[in-house]
Amino acid sequence: MARAERDAPGAAAAGTVRLGDLVVNRMGFGAMRVCGPDVWGPPADRAAAHRVLRRAVALGVNFIDTADSYGPEVDETLIAEALHPYPKGLVIGTKGGLVRPTRRAWDCDGRPEHLRRALEGSLARLKLERIDLYQFHAPDPNVPFAESLGALSELQRAGKIRHLGVSNVSVHELATARRIAPIVSVQNEYNVGDRGSDDVLAACERHGIAFLPWFPLGAGQCLRRASLKRVAKRRGATPAQVALAWLLARSPVMLPIPGTGSIAHLEENVRAAALRLAPEEMAELQR
Ligand SMILES: NC(=O)c1ccc[n+]([C@@H]2O[C@H](COP(=O)([O-])OP(=O)(O)OC[C@H]3O[C@@H](n4cnc5c(N)ncnc54)[C@H](OP(=O)(O)O)[C@@H]3O)[C@@H](O)[C@H]2O)c1
Repeated sequence: MARAERDAPGAAAAGTVRLGDLVVNRMGFGAMRVCGPDVWGPPADRAAAHRVLRRAVALGVNFIDTADSYGPEVDETLIAEALHPYPKGLVIGTKGGLVRPTRRAWDCDGRPEHLRRALEGSLARLKLERIDLYQFHAPDPNVPFAESLGALSELQRAGKIRHLGVSNVSVHELATARRIAPIVSVQNEYNVGDRGSDDVLAACERHGIAFLPWFPLGAGQCLRRASLKRVAKRRGATPAQVALAWLLARSPVMLPIPGTGSIAHLEENVRAAALRLAPEEMAELQR
């Protein structure tokens, strides 16, 4: 490895955030994009997907986000193929509670019996005895939220889950979850162009809960914002780097998980860990 590459700032430049008793660098990796198109089936080039995952870890990323529904099952399998036995300190967060009967469908299934089965599947595919962070993917309108969380809390007491997180929740649902079990993370849609979860982020800050913004780049869409392009040009950065730097500066509990199937984009995104925005730049981006 060339010296310049070895010395380039990696994910650690973003500082760290706590997930319960675990501490991870505040630039994670969302692994959803290493599956096939539409997050359905295997990637065209399996070895390339492995290379992206290994490169993320080499760049200092020590939190990877996945879910049993990505692929489905493919994403977790790729992670184990690329990275098991896992390096010390690598935290894998997976999720359960959604099913994929067809390519386009993402259906909720928050029934306790489904969550118990889903967790066993994730443990087997990831080759783990215990999941470091298990996130309930989304509240199921047909199952009381407390019933789903109660089942996960039991699995945590049984030693199969180290820490619990929730995803796609309101402030009220987060409060309900916290009455049932300790919650260390929330994963909601959030980026510079979509701040609909500002209230949930504020609740996370109050309670010292990590906030994992999904679509941190608006799935690529928010990179077209004129203000992002302006600040990027002035700073000699890219719009994606500015979008990620905005998230990092927005809150100390923020743990971005940008997704990509490309090594070039991965490297670009991780370099954002070292980009610090001035208050005037933050204000300009938020207008
Ligand atoms: N909890 C939930 O309900 C939920 C929902 C969605 C996602 N997630 C999680 O959140 C993670 C992040 O979300 P996401 O991957 O959907 O969206 P994202 O990170 O906002 O954007 C990813 C998209 O942007 C492109 N991209 C990445 N880096 C780029 C760069 N530097 N320049 C230009 N384009 C770039 C990627 O294409 P290339 O592959 O070509 O780089 C991909 O199409 C996922 O991987 C997943 O782990 C969770």
